[in-house]
Amino acid sequence: MSIPALFQPLTIRGVTFRNRIWLSPLCEYSAGLDGVPTDWHMVHLGSFAIGRAGLVMAEATSINAVGRISPHDVGIWNDEQVASWKRITDFIHSQGVAAGVQLAHAGRKGSTAPGWGADYEDSTPANQGGWRTVAPSAKAFGDYDVPVELDAAGVDTIVDDWVHAARHAISAGFDLVEIHAAHGYLLHQFLSPLANERTDEYGGSLENRARLLRRVVQAVRAEIGDAVPLFVRVSATDWDERGITVTDVATVAGWVHDDGADLIDTSTGGIAPGISIPTGPGYQVEFADTIRRTAEMSTNAVGLITLPEQANEIVESGKADAVMLGRELMRDPHFALRASTALGYSLPYWPDQYLRAQP
Ligand SMILES: Cc1cc2nc3c(=O)[nH]c(=O)nc-3n(C[C@H](O)[C@H](O)[C@H](O)COP(=O)(O)O)c2cc1C
Repeated sequence: MSIPALFQPLTIRGVTFRNRIWLSPLCEYSAGLDGVPTDWHMVHLGSFAIGRAGLVMAEATSINAVGRISPHDVGIWNDEQVASWKRITDFIHSQGVAAGVQLAHAGRKGSTAPGWGADYEDSTPANQGGWRTVAPSAKAFGDYDVPVELDAAGVDTIVDDWVHAARHAISAGFDLVEIHAAHGYLLHQFLSPLANERTDEYGGSLENRARLLRRVVQAVRAEIGDAVPLFVRVSATDWDERGITVTDVATVAGWVHDDGADLIDTSTGGIAPGISIPTGPGYQVEFADTIRRTAEMSTNAVGLITLPEQANEIVESGKADAVMLGRELMRDPHFALRASTALGYSLPYWPDQYLRAQP
């Protein structure tokens, strides 16, 4: 039987993914105030490994305490966090599945209310665990608190923190690292003229606005060595004519490819409130396709990919090397098992414990 494109293995550097159905990073707001992942993360992420995703990507995981989106985000800046992540990656590996982590810094979108349960909106007050945020410019995101503009030394510290986090990610057993440069978080804030008003070497031209991202990619690549895949999640467009476009982002993708990134995880949006995004099934696939062809590098598509046939077509047609699913995998952590059946493929690595559920 021929293997559907969606189920063909993919090797990037030293890691082979058994299939191209990947878990998109999903913030769970389920850590304590210490940023340590909990049993929730074990069961949540473990379920996708049982469900045979080709890659389980852990959520936006902060490189330092002020980079968290909310006080309940996970981090990877200390040994206690590393030890807790290690339990989770050990389980994912026991299922033959690759484990990745999205390393993140929220910048001016940090210190906000978690997804639920807070009695405040927007920025977290100091007496509830909030902190002063940092950003390329002292320009707030909507009604959030105004961030502190990073000076040159502050920018250098961010690069160092990314390197330490990458080192910790390897100690924690992750097979790959993704740098979060999308959705209006710190590295995207530097990239976009909608958030970056600097006049130094980090502001102005696209080259300057991409400088911090490039420094982070180069430094992380040097830290993790040649065998570990490095992904970068981008927002391929700000969906605003004054912001970044797919042409800009494809250019930046080419640069970071030269700097050691292997794959562009292609999302969009998030830089400012009030910008409408024309969503629909597979609405971001075209951007993954454009970046893949322009930068001549691997991409994955993400965004309203919900059907086995749709996912298979994206990979088969060469628009992307893999698909990431977020909400559909939350609805059905066993999507890959179901998709194999739908595509007429007898999955050879169905979990033994679930064999009696095989159609
Ligand atoms: C609950 C939730 C949490 C998310 N957390 C993250 C995150 O940590 N990092 C990230 O890059 N995107 C995050 N996203 C965006 C998803 O990764 C994904 O790109 C988006 O949901 C579109 O894919 P989907 O239509 O398959 O859900 C989140 C989305 C949801 C719904």
